[in-house]
Amino acid sequence: MTERFSPKVIPLVDLRAGTHPLPPASVLPASRMAASGSVSDTLGRHLRDLRISVTDRCNFRCGYCMPKEIFDKEYAYLPHSALLSFEEIVRIAQQFVNHGVQKIRLTGGEPLLRKNIEVLIEKLTALRTTDGRALDLTLTTNGALLARKARALKAAGLHRVTVSLDGLDDTVFRAMNDVDFPVADVLDGIRAAQEAGLGPIKVNMVVKRGTNDQEIIPMARHFKGSGIVLRFIEYMDVGATNGWRMDDVMPSADVVHRLQTELPLVALEPSSPGETAQRWGYANALGAHDQLAGEIGVISSVTQAFCGDCNRARISTEGQLYLCLFASQGYDLRSLVRGKATDEDLASAIGHIWSARTDRYSALRSTLAADTGGGARRVEMSYIGG
Ligand code: GTP
Ligand code: 5AD
Ligand code: SF4
Ligand code: SF4
Repeated sequence: MTERFSPKVIPLVDLRAGTHPLPPASVLPASRMAASGSVSDTLGRHLRDLRISVTDRCNFRCGYCMPKEIFDKEYAYLPHSALLSFEEIVRIAQQFVNHGVQKIRLTGGEPLLRKNIEVLIEKLTALRTTDGRALDLTLTTNGALLARKARALKAAGLHRVTVSLDGLDDTVFRAMNDVDFPVADVLDGIRAAQEAGLGPIKVNMVVKRGTNDQEIIPMARHFKGSGIVLRFIEYMDVGATNGWRMDDVMPSADVVHRLQTELPLVALEPSSPGETAQRWGYANALGAHDQLAGEIGVISSVTQAFCGDCNRARISTEGQLYLCLFASQGYDLRSLVRGKATDEDLASAIGHIWSARTDRYSALRSTLAADTGGGARRVEMSYIGG
């Protein structure tokens, strides 16, 4: 796999609506498609997971996501009027749930920067799947505001959080977030989330070779036995601003190999279909999974694509529906909810868009031009969320 790549820098581009007009979702077959609790795409993948970006802003400047040189004082973030309101988010989410969504993740940017996020969470907790079940409601955060907000998030009905943390060493961590934010404050946030009952908590670490890979073992030791699931993520060529190079990617196989030398692991079965992570349990002296020690995960988006059962849809901060993390265009749901569309129209649009979905970028990556994603230019992760 690796030899097919040559290290290349991805050019800079801004794909937000306004700079690049997006096709209206209303350009769809006239036939009505009602929500039936289940909709599958052209590859038979059912819609199950909805990720909603609630802000394009962040208080960190991780080089792999919002590099400082581009996301500087001059950067034009979306005006408040462009953002979906909480009412609009809930209305859209309801139709996704009617089509079979079971999990909603709030993302950003940094979702805890969105004012009154607790109010949105409270509204989303009222949603039920077509067979009457509550949703798995979760949020990805950098943890900076978690110590302050964990209890309120729990009280609003949030089930769990996933915290991004790229190292334990304070110097390494400050360099990774590039705003000199101390690691101790994120660890306090994780502790607060645990105390508030926002579990099972996951910690996501993006591994960049030569930058933070020395943190793999300390991170594993720190979270082993804590009940927190640490996941190592391959640095991806997502967006167009991070100057991604294959040389910076540390394949998950290498991560697992490095861990095995000090902390023996056993492979575990997936816990749900379409899961992003491959699970590994810490082994006991007999080579079996030590449940108390817990588990880690590796997310191998680059070296072992998991598009085959990808069930994830993404809504950008301004209400564009994206069918893939690497998509270069979205479908404008905001114009539907701000126009005359009824809930049935909205459901029909979502159903048609998902039914026609063909995306499997990671699986095709090695056959596409590595520098542009096959000619198309991609949205930023801070705009559609991880
Ligand atoms: P859980 O339900 O808690 O297991 O979450 P998850 O793993 O489904 O979602 P999360 O946002 O924690 O994903 C972790 C990381 O995996 C993201 O930050 C991305 O780097 C990567 N990732 C998530 N979804 C996708 C996807 O659909 N495609 C690719 N290529 N990478 C993804
Ligand atoms: N590669 C892999 N993961 C990324 N994230 C952001 N940018 C990248 C990238 N280039 C993910 C990280 C982070 C979350 C908010 O988004 O997991 O924790
Ligand atoms: Fe912010 Fe998360 Fe992106 Fe870092 S990875 S800049 S914390 S949104
Ligand atoms: Fe899904 Fe696209 Fe990621 Fe593949 S690359 S797993 S299709 S979001």
